[in-house]
Amino acid sequence: MSLFFRPLFEKESATYTYLLADLQTKEAVIIDPVDTTKQRDIALLEELGLDLNYIIETHIHADHITSSCPLKQKFTHAKIVIGAANATSCADILIKDGNTLNFGTHTITAIATPGHTIGCMSFVCGNKVFTGDALLIRSCGRCDFQGGSAETLFTSIKRLFTLPDTTYVYPAHDYNGRICSSIWEEKVFNTMIGGGVKKTEFVHRVNAMKLSLPAKIHVAVPANQVCGAKIIGE
Ligand SMILES: [Fe+2]
Repeated sequence: MSLFFRPLFEKESATYTYLLADLQTKEAVIIDPVDTTKQRDIALLEELGLDLNYIIETHIHADHITSSCPLKQKFTHAKIVIGAANATSCADILIKDGNTLNFGTHTITAIATPGHTIGCMSFVCGNKVFTGDALLIRSCGRCDFQGGSAETLFTSIKRLFTLPDTTYVYPAHDYNGRICSSIWEEKVFNTMIGGGVKKTEFVHRVNAMKLSLPAKIHVAVPANQVCGAKIIGE
């Protein structure tokens, strides 16, 4: 059965949530769900008659609170998945580079892509890669908190660039209305690392970002370290 795939958007933090499923077995996976859109996501899962196997976090987000725990309360045997390098007490699976997750006839493979944070993971499913905040469309994640490192991110993105050029890139955010890209486009046109930019120049560019802290960081990070458990009952 072909892969069911649906990008979903949360406009306040410009976050993409991705729903993937095998329509024959009804097994589903959700990547980076957001607390404020959890009712929308639950309604879609119920409408389609899907059962949630895995709730995947690409990393501990700083700009929004996850709905992992509330979703798990609804879909009780779903497993919360997050990179093993993260400081978290709530995950069912601490996933490592090369580990796989199956739903129906489909497989997701984890790739460790630290740099934006120390625990960032990307996930490959067929011709798609979910890059979290490691590789963004024409940009990349900031590296100035949560163990971030521009040097490490350079290596991680270069590793993503070894995927086939035709691989579709689905990031955790886009602030300019774009939905997806491809590895080829980002290798050539990414404004931070595309066109063969050297590591020293990439590090200079990342460290020159000078962004203000996300407004919710002091609430979001502690909440996400417990998979959004603090918002249960809201
Ligand atoms: Fe992030």
